[in-house]
Amino acid sequence: MPLAVDPHYDRLDPALGTPHLAGRILEVGCSDGWRLERARERFPSAEVFGVEPGEAACVVAREKRGLPNIECGTADSFRFAEPFDVILAPFVFHWVDRADLLRSVANLDSHLVPGGLLIVQDFHTPGFRRNRYEHLRDEDVWTYKQDYSRIFVEPGIYPSLFHSIHDYDHFESGDFQSHPPVAPDNAAMIAVLEKTLDARYST
Ligand SMILES: C[S@@+](CC[C@H](N)C(=O)[O-])C[C@H]1O[C@@H](n2cnc3c(N)ncnc32)[C@H](O)[C@@H]1O
Repeated sequence: MPLAVDPHYDRLDPALGTPHLAGRILEVGCSDGWRLERARERFPSAEVFGVEPGEAACVVAREKRGLPNIECGTADSFRFAEPFDVILAPFVFHWVDRADLLRSVANLDSHLVPGGLLIVQDFHTPGFRRNRYEHLRDEDVWTYKQDYSRIFVEPGIYPSLFHSIHDYDHFESGDFQSHPPVAPDNAAMIAVLEKTLDARYST
């Protein structure tokens, strides 16, 4: 069975080997829980959890979708008693205030078991870019684009099992690879990373 928490992940299966399908899955920035609802349908033995700051979205996730394990909070400050086997971070890091970004990275890391999978999806730019949010052009609202997988990969702790840069418009089809070249303003990325602590001090 593929790691198909939504149709996009079907394509990742060959890259993943044996994914953690029966464990605890957390989505950070889960909005109204639509991905988690699909995850629960596809993987009935998994337990799904979400973190979302929008109170109205949390209510929809809990009451309309029947997802009990939704914490209304942010990536930098959520707390769960037990760690997760899979953490999904789809299109959330570009919203995180720079003052909270590294705390958010550390918080996700501290909630993932060694050997667990972190799946990062976001818009992609070759380097860091701060953009005015296009739907609220007259207000002081910003998003921050970069390849967020690199924050995890470069310290050597999260080797990448799969990484793809593709056109955002092809996301829905899950067709990540067959449309090069990708227009720079329309690029998105997905990465599957495995938390690996082989290089740590033994205790
Ligand atoms: C672009 S939506 C993505 C929703 C969903 N993950 C998806 O892929 O469709 C970004 C979500 O992240 C939430 N969000 C914004 N800032 C956040 C933060 N600091 N921590 C956690 N979630 C945040 C927003 O409320 C919103 O629901």
